[in-house]
Amino acid sequence: MPELKDQIDLSKLPTHIAVIMDGNGRWAQEQGEDRLYGHYHGVESVRAVVEGCAELGIGYLTLYAFSTENWDRPQDEVSGLMELLVSTIRKEAEGLNKNNIRLHIIGDKNMLPPTAQTELQEALDLMNDNTGLNLIMALSYSGRWDLVNSVKKIAEKAKTGELDVSGISEEVLKANLSTANFPDPELMIRTSGEFRISNFLLYELAYAELYFTDVRWPDFRKENLYEAILGYQNRERRFGKTSEQMQ
Ligand code: IPE
Ligand code: IPE
Ligand code: MG
Repeated sequence: MPELKDQIDLSKLPTHIAVIMDGNGRWAQEQGEDRLYGHYHGVESVRAVVEGCAELGIGYLTLYAFSTENWDRPQDEVSGLMELLVSTIRKEAEGLNKNNIRLHIIGDKNMLPPTAQTELQEALDLMNDNTGLNLIMALSYSGRWDLVNSVKKIAEKAKTGELDVSGISEEVLKANLSTANFPDPELMIRTSGEFRISNFLLYELAYAELYFTDVRWPDFRKENLYEAILGYQNRERRFGKTSEQMQ
């Protein structure tokens, strides 16, 4: 059997992969450690997946790092996780930049501490002209938050007359989401055995192939990514049509 990576059909790669990085807390608790220990180890998995996607030539990788609902976790976990996320982005920025990776952040930036906002903006500016992998971090993000924002923007345009109500279409809704500049993900991966979306890209995942694995996020490595891509390549995407129509 050839290596997993060599089994991947490079002509049938997803353009956009989205990942719900779940299971850090359980991974840590299973080893008698506290939850933050799991988040720290999750960073290694982020590196592996970013590298794996960049090597394959994937265009877009969205990582769900912190949801709107995660703000309701115990205060020490929230502050520890925020610190880890911001310091990791700061530390990795140089390396990402060298690899021509362009960072994007989606989510409610206003919820983040002002210093974090400044540091994240610096990282974004640094990579602004890069043309390689688009790495999209969903931070203080939720699908419903984004949809409400899109509706507000559209309503504002309708009010000022910039847009007619009859002109509101799926494209207009999409164009006002924080993901307006990214194609919809073809593949969504969730780790750690949970079978739900948890308020991730609600609009964008309409026709994504969903891939669930029991592997906890801190254990996720390139091989697991390859397995998910191979799983995706073995599926028939029908978009409502019949199998015969797709031949
Ligand atoms: C994913 O791991 C990271 C975040 C949600 C921030 P969890 O912290 O949800 O870990 P589990 O699901 O409780 O094991
Ligand atoms: C989803 O994981 C959010 C992130 C991975 C950032 P959660 O652990 O918060 O989701 P639920 O609570 O299990 O649905
Ligand atoms: Mg979880």
